[in-house]
Amino acid sequence: MIRSKILGLGSYVPDRIVTNEEIAYLDARHIRHDEKQTDTTPEWIRTRTGVEERRYVPNDESTTCSDLAQRAAVRALEDAQCSAKDVDCIILATLSPDIHFPGTAVFLQSRLGIDGDEGCPCFDIRQQCSGFLYGLQMADSFVKSGQYKRVLLVGAELHSHSLDYSTRGRDVMVLFGDGAGAVVVGPSESNGPRDGILYTKLGADGSGAQDLHLKVFDSQKMPHIQYDPAWGTPDVAYPQMNGKKVFLNAVRAMNLGTRAALQATGLTWDDVDWFVPHQANLRINEAVAKFAEIPEEKVLNSIQFYGNTTAATVPLTIDHHRKAGRVKKGDLIVSAVFGAGFTWGASVFQV
Ligand code: COA
Repeated sequence: MIRSKILGLGSYVPDRIVTNEEIAYLDARHIRHDEKQTDTTPEWIRTRTGVEERRYVPNDESTTCSDLAQRAAVRALEDAQCSAKDVDCIILATLSPDIHFPGTAVFLQSRLGIDGDEGCPCFDIRQQCSGFLYGLQMADSFVKSGQYKRVLLVGAELHSHSLDYSTRGRDVMVLFGDGAGAVVVGPSESNGPRDGILYTKLGADGSGAQDLHLKVFDSQKMPHIQYDPAWGTPDVAYPQMNGKKVFLNAVRAMNLGTRAALQATGLTWDDVDWFVPHQANLRINEAVAKFAEIPEEKVLNSIQFYGNTTAATVPLTIDHHRKAGRVKKGDLIVSAVFGAGFTWGASVFQV
C-alpha cells in the first residue's frame, strides 16, 4: 500500500501580542481600559496554565477564521513546493468557523483561488482541540487509498471574538489565542521504518460533551453574539467548561494514547525526536510527560507564546520550534491531543 507523508508545513499567528498583564484590562472589543475588567493576575495565569501571552487578530472585524487558515495554508504549500492548484482535497479543522454554514473550508478554497467548476472537495471537521489529528487520519487514509494525492489540512482558530472578558469567564478566557497551522499530505516515495505518517489512532466519549462547549457563534462580530441581559445568565453566548474534569481526562487520554502509539509502532523514545502534545495547559503536558515517561528534553511546548489555539496547536508548535532551529526536516514526532467532545488522538509522523 502507498504510504503518506507530510510534504510541507506552515503556520500563522496575528501580530498583536496580548500579555497576561494586559488581558485583565481588555473588554469584548479588545480595548484596553484603565480599570480591570476581569479579576485575574498575571501570576495566576502563568502558574496555573503556563500561558504568558497569546496573539489576537486586529480588533476591526476585518479578520475571519478562513483568513488565518489561508495564511498558514500558503506557507505550508510553499514548504511543500507545490501550488494551490495541486491541492485535490481540503480538510479544515476549527471550532470557530467563519459562519454557521457553509463550512469554512469552502471559504478557504476561494481565498486560495481554487474554487469554480473543477473545485476540489472541502471538508470541515469539528473535533476542537483534537481536530488536527482527526484531520491527519483522514488525510492519511485518503492518500493511502489513492483517493487524493495532495490533501491540504488546516487547523485554524479565531477565539478572541467569542470569549467572556468579565470575571465570570476568566477560567476560559485566559487560556485561548488566535492562530493557524497547516500541512500538505501526499504520497511517500519511501516506506522505511521512520518514513511518513506511521500511526494515527483516535477516540471520543460523548458523555463529556457538556463539559466543554459553546452553543452559538458569529465569530466575525465583536462580541460574537449581541447578548441581551434580559436573557439571564449568558451561558449560551460563551464557552462553558468543567476545567478540572477536562484536565484529568486530558492527562489520562494523552498518556494512554502516547503509550499505545509507541507500543503499536514498536518505537522507543530513543527512536523518536520530539513529543508534541496539544497545548491546553502546561501542567497537563508536564503530567503527561511524567506519566508516559517522556524525556523532558523531547517535549515541545508553545503555549507560553500562543495560549491554546485548539485545532492549530500541533502544527503551530512544530513550526515554532522549526523556526527556532530545533525541529529539522525528517524528524520523527509523537503527538497526542485531547479536546471537547471529549475527543482525543495520538499519532506518529515525520515532518
Ligand atoms: N484568574 C484568577 N483566578 C481564577 C481564574 C483566573 N483566570 N480562573 C479561575 N480562577 C479561580 C477559580 O474561580 C477558583 O476560585 P475559588 O477557589 O475561589 O473558587 C480558583 O481560581 C481555582 O480554580 P480551579 O478551577 O480549581 O483551578 P485549576 O487549578 O483547576 O485551573 C484551569 C483552572 C481552567 C486552568 C484548569 O482546570 C485547566 O486548565 N483545565 C483544562 C482546560 C483545558 O484543557 N481546556 C481546553 C480543552 S483541551
